[in-house]
Amino acid sequence: MVISVVTVSDRCSKKLCDDKSGPLITELLSGIAQTAEYVIVPDEKEIISSELIRLADEVKSDIIFTTGGTGFAPRDVTPEATKAVIVKEAPGISEAIRQKSLEITPKAMLSRAVSGIRGKTLIINLPGSPKAVSESIEIILPVLEHAVETLQGNTLNCGGNYGKSL
Ligand code: MTE
Repeated sequence: MVISVVTVSDRCSKKLCDDKSGPLITELLSGIAQTAEYVIVPDEKEIISSELIRLADEVKSDIIFTTGGTGFAPRDVTPEATKAVIVKEAPGISEAIRQKSLEITPKAMLSRAVSGIRGKTLIINLPGSPKAVSESIEIILPVLEHAVETLQGNTLNCGGNYGKSL
């Protein structure tokens, strides 16, 4: 599958810090995915939304992962930028991340991350810290390939019908 990674951070976009979370997403998924594009954008709703549209509609990423900007800080707008461009919500993904992450830290309830579908692209918000990224990816890893297959219209593997026609 082809993924794109969007790091949302004012500081990293101004080169005031090194982004560790974006490259970590690529590394953690290297066994199942190639990264088509990796971009760093500031916490600006319009800029985030237009990158998501480009990476979905033009680059045709199977999954776009964002990292950062999901919390309560005044400039955190990644969920709003995502909601502006998705056509269908995929709440189960973000619910699972929050629910499982709560077993690790109560601060998980401070992430307002959302997930959703635009065309054949799944967009998943992840929190910003490398720790949160690796914990979140571990939670959703078992379903990512099936999510992409389903988005492409291939439902043969649903319900364990491996290789059987429905
Ligand atoms: N989720 C996991 N699994 N692990 C974490 O350490 N940190 C939380 C939360 N989700 C965390 C997590 C914290 S401290 C915050 S403030 C929110 O994500 C939002 O993070 P963001 O603003 O960097 O997106």
